[in-house]
Amino acid sequence: MKIKIANHSGFCYGVKRAIDLAVKNSSDETTYSYGDIIHNKDEINRLKSYNIEPVYDIEDIDRDAKVVIRSHGEPKSTYDRLQAQNVNIVDATCPYVKRIHSLIEDYSTNGYTVFLIGNKNHPEVTASMGWAKGDIFVFGDPKEIEGFEKKIDKILVLAQTTIKESLWDSCAQIINKKYKNVVFINTICSATSLRQNSTRELAAAVDAMLIIGGKKSSNTKKLYEISYSVNKNTFFYENKDEIIVQKFKIYDIIGISAGASTPKWVVDELVEKLLNESEE
Ligand code: F3S
Repeated sequence: MKIKIANHSGFCYGVKRAIDLAVKNSSDETTYSYGDIIHNKDEINRLKSYNIEPVYDIEDIDRDAKVVIRSHGEPKSTYDRLQAQNVNIVDATCPYVKRIHSLIEDYSTNGYTVFLIGNKNHPEVTASMGWAKGDIFVFGDPKEIEGFEKKIDKILVLAQTTIKESLWDSCAQIINKKYKNVVFINTICSATSLRQNSTRELAAAVDAMLIIGGKKSSNTKKLYEISYSVNKNTFFYENKDEIIVQKFKIYDIIGISAGASTPKWVVDELVEKLLNESEE
């Protein structure tokens, strides 16, 4: 059995930076992350050894404690509430997401209505929405834009960092047909397209593909969809405990790709299990 790992795979810059900042700010006292710092329960468990604990309600954070804002970012109201609670904010919002917040804040202050292409339930999107000073609309599908009947003067169009380029292109086409005064700033993060493209290429060149990552991670789910569209022998595993190696002995070449929230050690453990047990 041969194993090939996608050229671009695993932690992206923003997630790695958030984890590094959390660890750097950890101490004997609990350091909180507001929400899960990463969509990977194995890594969350590892971080517990540094006294880094997720907290889901601001009221549960002790005064003067440190709280890490995760790479997805938070709406402005969260910063206000944390400051009112007198906690120390460690802002680990990914700089690419922070740029979206600034664009939304600046353009909406100047009278632009913001269109955000993405999933309105994704935490990155709900956080970004909270920086608008005026109207902001989220569209997950070009059909939603077709059916949108509001007259608008000036529009800024941005993207959730993890959407597919094809969704951006199809939405931009409709917006261009319907509205005149539009500024498009494609804020899709290249980490996403690089991972998606190298997953697609690898999936076409191997007998089976394993996508490794948290089941709650939307970027990992997208890698699975892309791989499956190219190679029906695509499987999604959270970690080594889920894989039954026996099932893969029929394949000569197995490709592996991991979401932007998957730690390298999780992939390494799974590869080691595959290699060791396939020889038995
Ligand atoms: Fe940032 Fe891109 Fe990762 S926006 S959090 S580097 S996917």
